[in-house]
Amino acid sequence: MNRHQETFMTVKELGSSCPAYRPTFELTSTSDTEKSYIDSTHELLSMCRVKNGSLIQLENKGWRLQKYIPGWLHRADALKLYEMAYFAQGDILELGSFRGLSTTIMANAVRNAPSEKHIYSVDMSPKCVRKTADTLRRNQVSDLVTTICSEGALAIRTLRDGGKRFAFAFIDHSHAYEPVLNVCRELASVITPGGFCLFHDFNDPRNREEDNKDYGVYQAVNTGLDSDLFEFYGIYGCTALYRLKEEAAQNYDSGTQTKISA
Ligand SMILES: C[S@@+](CC[C@H](N)C(=O)[O-])C[C@H]1O[C@@H](n2cnc3c(N)ncnc32)[C@H](O)[C@@H]1O
Repeated sequence: MNRHQETFMTVKELGSSCPAYRPTFELTSTSDTEKSYIDSTHELLSMCRVKNGSLIQLENKGWRLQKYIPGWLHRADALKLYEMAYFAQGDILELGSFRGLSTTIMANAVRNAPSEKHIYSVDMSPKCVRKTADTLRRNQVSDLVTTICSEGALAIRTLRDGGKRFAFAFIDHSHAYEPVLNVCRELASVITPGGFCLFHDFNDPRNREEDNKDYGVYQAVNTGLDSDLFEFYGIYGCTALYRLKEEAAQNYDSGTQTKISA
């Protein structure tokens, strides 16, 4: 497992660079050359069109009026998303689906992965849930995803109380401090030990603007994730990857959602 600790940024450094995609998992190769991509679907994300320099454009299958699925994923974000969904050792949680761009990328990874898993995709907008379901249907991956219309933190509590746990969570529902903080405070209770969380818009210069109430992802993650439980794994594009430490299971009671003191 590769941890890219050196990519961490101070608040002043946010947006000063867009770190390239690098694999967290070891990509085994059958040839002598070093392998950079998991499979051809992953590799396609490294070659597809981009707009505004780096936002990927993924074909909107079966939809003539809109050629590409709307969304704001940098190439590095998309490559990391596919990798984390592919290697997740259990179910996947997504907060914020919009039109289903990130959902489709993860569903393709799940379809191609050797282990079985399911995606639970949450958005509080009924229109976005409907549009996401439509995108998934046209990409023939609907069976791999359950779409849920709910506020993000509320959805986590409901899923947790229903006994659901996740090996990977993609958090892309809000840029604002409060909604992201509320989610960060719930994550330890639904992520399996050793599982990962990928935060979109973490490396965004707008998080530096103190009076910008719409942006506070960096601050919410740093405040909301307990550093005794979560460790930083790297920044790729505008996303930041964190892992729930393996030993966290011994230190955390997910029933009462409290740390167990020694
Ligand atoms: C940036 S878009 C998600 C983009 C998507 N992940 C992608 O890459 O294609 C954010 C979405 O989160 C939803 N949203 C905003 N605040 C939310 C909240 N508190 N709970 C749940 N969904 C929320 C919005 O309706 C919107 O569709």
